[in-house]
Amino acid sequence: MPEDESFIHHLLSQMTLEEKIGQLNLESPDLAFDPEMIRQGKVGALLNASGALTGQVTGQQGSVETVNHFQRLAQESRLKIPLLIGRDVIHGYRTIFPIPLAQAAAFDPAMSQAAAAVAAREATVEGIKWTFAPMLDIARDPRWGRIAEGNGEDPLLGSRLAEALVRGFQGKDMARPDKLVACAKHYVGYGAAEGGRDYESGEIAEPTLRDVYLPPFESAVRAGVGTVMSAFIDLNGVPATANRRLLTEVLRGEWGFEGFVVSDWESVAELIYHGVAGDRAHAAALALHAGVDMDMVSRAYLDTLAESVRQGRVPVAKIDEAVRRILRIKQRAGLFENPLTDPSRPARDLLTPSARQLARAFACQSMVLLKNEGDLLPLQGFRRILVAGPFVHARSELFGTWSPDGHAEDVTPLDEALRQVAPKGVSLRFAEYNDLALHLTHEADVVILLMGEHPIRSGENSNVSDLRLPPGQEEFIAAVAALGKPVVLVIFAGRPLAITRPVSQVQAVLYAWHPGIEGGAALGEVLFGLAAPGGRLPVTFPRATGQVPIYYNHKNSGRPLGRDGAFLTRYNDLISAPLFPFGYGLTYTTFAYASLRLSSDVLHDRLEVSAEVTNTGPRPGREVVQLYVRDLVGSLTRPVRELKDFQAVELQPGETRRVTFVLRPEQLAFTRADGTRGVEPGRFHVWIGPDSQRGLQGEFEYPFR
Ligand code: BGC
Repeated sequence: MPEDESFIHHLLSQMTLEEKIGQLNLESPDLAFDPEMIRQGKVGALLNASGALTGQVTGQQGSVETVNHFQRLAQESRLKIPLLIGRDVIHGYRTIFPIPLAQAAAFDPAMSQAAAAVAAREATVEGIKWTFAPMLDIARDPRWGRIAEGNGEDPLLGSRLAEALVRGFQGKDMARPDKLVACAKHYVGYGAAEGGRDYESGEIAEPTLRDVYLPPFESAVRAGVGTVMSAFIDLNGVPATANRRLLTEVLRGEWGFEGFVVSDWESVAELIYHGVAGDRAHAAALALHAGVDMDMVSRAYLDTLAESVRQGRVPVAKIDEAVRRILRIKQRAGLFENPLTDPSRPARDLLTPSARQLARAFACQSMVLLKNEGDLLPLQGFRRILVAGPFVHARSELFGTWSPDGHAEDVTPLDEALRQVAPKGVSLRFAEYNDLALHLTHEADVVILLMGEHPIRSGENSNVSDLRLPPGQEEFIAAVAALGKPVVLVIFAGRPLAITRPVSQVQAVLYAWHPGIEGGAALGEVLFGLAAPGGRLPVTFPRATGQVPIYYNHKNSGRPLGRDGAFLTRYNDLISAPLFPFGYGLTYTTFAYASLRLSSDVLHDRLEVSAEVTNTGPRPGREVVQLYVRDLVGSLTRPVRELKDFQAVELQPGETRRVTFVLRPEQLAFTRADGTRGVEPGRFHVWIGPDSQRGLQGEFEYPFR
C-alpha cells in the first residue's frame, strides 16, 4: 500500500459510521448551519458562497479569519480531519478575467492556464482550497445562459482548455499554498437542456455523448483533476446525479478517475423531483450507488445514510470507498499538514500589477472583430468621437456572470479608461443610451456604440427566448446608424447574440463579451490600435433565434446545403448559413493561405499537413491557424468538419511561415456503429484554414490494415 493510502486506511479504521458520513457532507454557511456541526465531525467540506448563490452578487467574499475559524473547529473534532473549503472561482477571484466563453475565443490555452493560476493564487489567500471550475459543458444553444461559463461548442477546443485550466488551478502539486483543487463540472450533458432552459431535461445520443460532450471531461481527468461535479440534468431519462454508468463505469472504470465526485447544489435530494427516488433516503442511496461521493448541501446523506446502513440498504463498504476518495483529495491538497491559511498574504498576492496586465492582455486576445468595413478600426484620424450606449460608465458590468469576489471599485469605469487610452488631440464625448446620443451624433466624426447584455442576463438560470439584443437596442443602433456617420458597434455579452440587423447597419463590429476587470482599458487599446483584437469564435453565431441549435460540426444529411434543388434542408424565411461561423474572427491585418502540403496521401502512423500562411496586411498580427478533417464514409454519419488542431502564429507584415500539423490515426477515432471507438479505413478531407468554413482542402486515405 502506498504511503498516502496507508495513512487513509489508518484514519478510516478509527472513524465511526457517523464520522464517515460527515465527510460526505458539504455544508454552506449561507444556509441554516450550525458551526458546531464541524466540531461534531458532521461536515467534510464547506461551500463558502456567502450569499452569492448563483454568482450574480459581487463583492461578498469570505474572510481568511472566518475560514481559519472553521478549520480550527475541525481541529477540535475528535479526529481533527480538516475541511475542504470550496468556492466558485470561475474566471478569476479579485482579478476578474474575461468570462470563460471569451477566454475560449482567445484560442490560447497557455493564457487560460496562466489566468487560472492567478485565480488560484488569489483565492487561496482567503483560505479557499477548492474551486468549482472548470465548467466543461459543450453548449450548442446560446439561449442557455450558462454558455457564458464554458468553452463553447467544440470538443477539441474544450479539451485543450480543460487540461490547461486544471493545470492552472492545481499546478503539479495541489498542496502548494497557492494552488486549488479543481472540479470538472457539470458531468455531463448539462448544456443539452431542451430549449436552452437551464435545469431542463435533455437527450443526447450515445455517439454524440461520447464524441462531443465527454471528451473535455476525459481530458480533465487525464490532466489529474481532483474532483468532478455531477450535473442537475436528467439525461436520456437518468438524472446525472444518479447515473452509475457515467459516474462509475465511464469516469472511474474507463478513465481511471481517482478523485471524488460532488453533487451539484441539492441535486441529491432533487432526485425526488426527478421522480426516480421516493424519499431522501432513497435519493441518497441512489446517488451514492451511482458514484456521488459528496452531497452538496441537501443533507440527504447526513440525515439518512446511517439508518440505511443499519437496515442493510446501503453497504458500509460503499461509504468507506467515498470517504477514502475524499480523504485522498484532502491529503493531496496538503490539508492535513496545513489546514490554516497564512493571514499575511493578501497584500502580496491579491490584484497584483502583473495579474491586471494579464487580465488586460487576455481581454484584448478574446475580443472578436466581426466586421471592419473600410478598415474603420483601429480608429485613426478622427478628432471628435462620440461614445454612447448603456455601457458607457460600466464597471462591475464588465465582469460577467460568476464573479462574486470582484469589486466594482477595482474597475476603472469604461469612459474613464477610454479617456486614459485615447490619443492626444482626440475629443471623446459620452452619452447615455438616450436621445442626447442622437443629437450628439451630428457633431461627431465617428460613433462608438457600447451595447449588449448586462451580466445578469447570462449565467445560471438566465436563459433567453430571444437572442436579439435586449429590447430597444436594435432600434437605437438603427437610429444612430441612419444619421450617416461611421459607427463602431461594440457588444458586451455572455453569449452569441443574433445581431444580423445591427451588423448590416454599421461599419465595424467588435464582440467584447464580458471582458473582466481591465475591460475598459483593453477596449481602448483595441479601438485605438495599441492592441489588436485576437479572438476567434468558439461558437457559431446564428442569424436568428429560430436557427438554434446551429453548430459547425453538424452532419451532412441526405439533402445537404449547397446542392441545387428545392427539397433541401433549409428555412423558408432565412438563409441557412450562420451569421458567423465557428473559428471566425478578423484582426488588424490580413492573412493568406497557400501551398497545402501532405507528407503522403496515405496516413499510416502519422501524416504531416502543412500550409503557408502570409501576413498580407500592414501590421503585425496573430492568426489562429485551424486544422479540420472530414471522414467521408463511416459506419455512422460523420460531421461535415471537425477541428483536429490549431496553432497561433505571430507574423510581421509580409512574413510567410509554413505551419505544420501532425495527424495521427487516434485523432480520427470516433464512436462507431457497433458502439466501439476507433478509426475506420477510407478517405478523408483535410483543411487548413482561418475558420470552419474556409481553408485549403486536401485529401488522404487511412488504409485497411
Ligand atoms: C451551480 C454550480 C455551482 C454550485 C455552487 C450550483 O447552483 O450549478 O455550478 O458550482 O451551485 O455554488
